[in-house]
Amino acid sequence: GAPVKADISKLEPGQMIVVEWRGKPVYVVNRTQEMLDNLPRLNDDLKDPDSAISQQPTYISGVDRALRPELLVVEGLCTHLGCAPKYRPEVGAADLGGDAWLGGFFCPCHGSKFDLSGRVYAGVPASTNLVVPPYSFESDRVLVIG
Ligand code: FES
Repeated sequence: GAPVKADISKLEPGQMIVVEWRGKPVYVVNRTQEMLDNLPRLNDDLKDPDSAISQQPTYISGVDRALRPELLVVEGLCTHLGCAPKYRPEVGAADLGGDAWLGGFFCPCHGSKFDLSGRVYAGVPASTNLVVPPYSFESDRVLVIG
């Protein structure tokens, strides 16, 4: 399939857009500094905090799992059975663990949870992190997926 371009210049802090690539939804989130600061605090609650199981291109590393720290790019497919996780950025959401919830993605099918880097929580059916697709930037404004 051909690469897909997305204009990211209008993405507000904390906002997510969905870009279709190869028939799959790709979630693109403009993460705030607070969201980024929270990522390392979650490591003890995750199955694969360092993304040791390869679910991302080799040029992606670290807790932010991104080429530009603020911009998360992940496939919007739960790694359990492929439902679309919901974007749930609100810290402390009562239905997602209250104070322990620092924002992320919640899969309504069987309750898997992922953080704002798409890293999977312990104690849920999904066992691997959300997949980071190959991507690059054509300019400051244009993301290229694929
Ligand atoms: Fe997401 Fe089962 S498909 S938890």
